[in-house]
Amino acid sequence: MKRILKYVMEYKFRFIIPTISMIIIVALAMYTPHVMKLIIDKVVIGREYDLLTNLLIGLLAITVGRSIFGFIQEYLFDIVGAQIAQDIRRDLFTHIQNLSFGFFDKTNTGEIMSRTTGDIGNIWMVTGFVAVFFTQQILYFTLGAIMIFSTEWRLATITLAFMPIIAYLAIKLDKEVGKVYEEISDQDAALNTTAQENIAGVRLVKAFGREKHEVSKFLKENKQKYKLNVKRVKTWVKYQPIIELITNVVIIIVVCFGGVMVIRNELTLGSLVAFYGYVMLMIWPMRMLGFLINNLAQCNASAKKIFKIMDIKSSITSPQNPLFPKEEVGNIVFDRVSLKYDNSVVLNDVSFEVKAGKTIAIMGTTGSGKSSIANLIARYYDCTEGEILVDGINIKQRELANLRSQISVVMQDTFLFSDTISANIKFGHNEIGDEEMINVSKLAKVHGFVETMSDKYDTVIGERGVGLSGGQKQRIAIARALLKEANVLILDDATSSLDTETEFDIQKGLVKLKTLTKVIIAHRISAVKDADEIILLENGEIIERGNHKSLLKKQGRYHNIFKEQYGDIEVIKNEVILCQ
Ligand SMILES: Nc1ncnc2c1ncn2[C@@H]1O[C@H](COP(=O)(O)OP(=O)(O)O)[C@@H](O)[C@H]1O
Ligand SMILES: [Mg+2]
Repeated sequence: MKRILKYVMEYKFRFIIPTISMIIIVALAMYTPHVMKLIIDKVVIGREYDLLTNLLIGLLAITVGRSIFGFIQEYLFDIVGAQIAQDIRRDLFTHIQNLSFGFFDKTNTGEIMSRTTGDIGNIWMVTGFVAVFFTQQILYFTLGAIMIFSTEWRLATITLAFMPIIAYLAIKLDKEVGKVYEEISDQDAALNTTAQENIAGVRLVKAFGREKHEVSKFLKENKQKYKLNVKRVKTWVKYQPIIELITNVVIIIVVCFGGVMVIRNELTLGSLVAFYGYVMLMIWPMRMLGFLINNLAQCNASAKKIFKIMDIKSSITSPQNPLFPKEEVGNIVFDRVSLKYDNSVVLNDVSFEVKAGKTIAIMGTTGSGKSSIANLIARYYDCTEGEILVDGINIKQRELANLRSQISVVMQDTFLFSDTISANIKFGHNEIGDEEMINVSKLAKVHGFVETMSDKYDTVIGERGVGLSGGQKQRIAIARALLKEANVLILDDATSSLDTETEFDIQKGLVKLKTLTKVIIAHRISAVKDADEIILLENGEIIERGNHKSLLKKQGRYHNIFKEQYGDIEVIKNEVILCQ
């Protein structure tokens, strides 16, 4: 809560006008019973009819005034509340953007989404509405109490005795309903997840003919939500009538006892009416108490969750005094590097060097640690042992942004935004000219298929646009990486969905980029055979290394892979020779 206050204080001056409006509204509301009293005592009973017009105008003025200031208050508070919510949302999003990969491994998207929407919504509710309302109700209650005591203290004492009962019931009701609301909100999340997953995977569902199964899964969640809604209604009807009853009892008591006092001439009729008016102003705050407390508690809970994320420090940050290499060329050294994720060893004692402009290829079965090597170079994760040097400096001592600006990665899972092809390739660098974009697109074999599209590079792809094949997506991702103009290019299985011919064409193009250091993770011999060094990885350890020729000569694992992939071709070759 304290930290929300920090955001609120930034707008303290913008609270002045709505707060003044709020005070005026309370004052006007407090004045109404008094005018009623004058109308009854002076006009109706005292027969001073000439006062009536003025009093009625006064009453009208109060009503109009309350509407006008009510509008100002609500409008301005709501806007400032929205502004505060926007600020918190901005800070939260910026913070999340800067967190390291490890955070996203452990936190699911659904949770982050509900922090940035639902929880911030709760804070908005309080800063823009509940907090003001709460203060207003306190004012109504206190001033109302003062007024009734100054009118008739005995009647006031009896009336006041009932207030705690109403407050108690209202708080209890909202506590119970609040609990059900929480369950409903959890259920909403479950319902959303089920629906979202189903829609995302709708093609799979159809392919397996599992529509019925999916519908029944959804219906189960849907029914649960219905049950919770019934529970909410049941809780509501359990308390609401009692609260209503007690409210009415208070009114009856005021009318009965007050009536007797009027008959005994201890109280004027007008004062009794005014008294009734004040009591009504006091009952509302009591009845709202539960709702208000509940909302404040919810806001507090949301704030805790939000600031818990804000307090997470990125595990990977720039050092205090970063070192900058003399020359940025893209020299990579792995010196006895090991990596553990939560105690399971993923890489063990891996050493290699890639000189600037050279190519290293990494092969290995799934799970052998290839992507992990790629992740370590750009410091997406930190190695647990050993050292990684890029251009002669341990990457932990380099400035993170500077290091990453030198490394361009095409990740194993290509991700494209629902945007135009050109926006996907330029990825925020709108200053880059089209000519440059087309050059890399030609290199990545994107240009050919884009030219056949009606909107060319302005074609929107993804969810809101045309679909692309896996290979086309990979090629766009490669173009994006090439446009970055880094010294190091990492292709993590980035050509796996391409046909051999296109893969070969792209590789041929890459060879021409003489100054670029290339780290190529691939499965096909054709993709790695020209590399300066080929590393074979198994269970996080290097089991074979060398270049294409030396590895073939070794007749080891690489040779086996070669035979698997080219075996048939060899047979065909032999057949061709035999036929001649
Ligand atoms: N973020 C992670 N957290 C925990 N374990 C991981 C993570 N990423 C990869 N692993 C584990 O590390 C091993 C190597 O993974 P990876 O480097 O992706 O292999 P490859 O790319 O060769 O298929 C796998 O056993 C995998 O389960
Ligand atoms: Mg991988």
